[in-house]
Amino acid sequence: MSSNLAVFESAAPGKAILCGEHAVVHGSPAIAVPVFQVRAVARVRRSDDGARRFSSRNTGLDLRLEDAPDGFWGGALVAALERALAVSLPPFWLEIDSSIPVEAGLGSGAALAVASARALAAFAGRSADDETVNRIAFETEKIHHGTPSGIDNTTVTFARPVYYRRNRPVETFLPAAPLHIVIGLTGIASATGRVVADVRTARDLEPDRYTRIFAEIGAIVYQARAAIETGDLPGLGRLMDLNHEWLCEINVSAHELDRLVAAARTAGALGAKLSGGGRGGNMIALVTPGTAAAVEKALTAAGAVGTIRTEINPP
Ligand code: MEV
Repeated sequence: MSSNLAVFESAAPGKAILCGEHAVVHGSPAIAVPVFQVRAVARVRRSDDGARRFSSRNTGLDLRLEDAPDGFWGGALVAALERALAVSLPPFWLEIDSSIPVEAGLGSGAALAVASARALAAFAGRSADDETVNRIAFETEKIHHGTPSGIDNTTVTFARPVYYRRNRPVETFLPAAPLHIVIGLTGIASATGRVVADVRTARDLEPDRYTRIFAEIGAIVYQARAAIETGDLPGLGRLMDLNHEWLCEINVSAHELDRLVAAARTAGALGAKLSGGGRGGNMIALVTPGTAAAVEKALTAAGAVGTIRTEINPP
């Protein structure tokens, strides 16, 4: 094959936050896991019209970087990649194919960035290690989320469960027993950046109250990690329930999310909470192999537009 026809392909998974979202933006820890049941795929080849072109059949995206509006994530990606790898990208055509619902709290933006960064680096003949890819993807997260914590790009880049704290080395954790999770999709698009900004505004108005709440959430995350590492699944479920209460307290839930959370608990979930930015997007339920089907059915009956089953297994 002539190198002009070569295609460089990379894929990245989605992610779900188990606990600690929002508080993590303000310095508390959070736990997130990759979701391999959905993924973004990026394919890069040389473009024959001299342009840097981005297209996606899923979203109808089709533009040349030269004509892109300010704030297009692809611009931040290319700039960060060229800087990090000390390279000037030749004309390219980047095609994206993603099964990750957009603005659903599943890390679609981070997955696009990670898959695209890896495919573009390969196209440029450079190797980019995970740390570098993570840093590049973080630049695009700023476009999507304003002031992201970095947990989404980190979980997606390393594709393993993470115990994450801003500006600390990434830690992973090993569950002592399999974690069976059902994700319920509200079908309501919710821009994480907007919700994160609202929480910041509320925090600025009531700093003491929010500092206390973020500390409470941080303590839940700390205990959740211990529960995961000792296989205390009922304990983890209770902590997830409690985390949801605090997320309601900071006004990032929605009736639709609360309804799905209640339905999952009634159907036998060990615990349930909204996951990610909130106000829409998705919720997660901790289930057992015996309750997973009933929980999925209950979520659908309560209005979920889709469910995803995922599992985190001990090594
Ligand atoms: C989004 O998946 C999680 C948030 O905490 C935002 C962030 O950490 O960047 C809501």
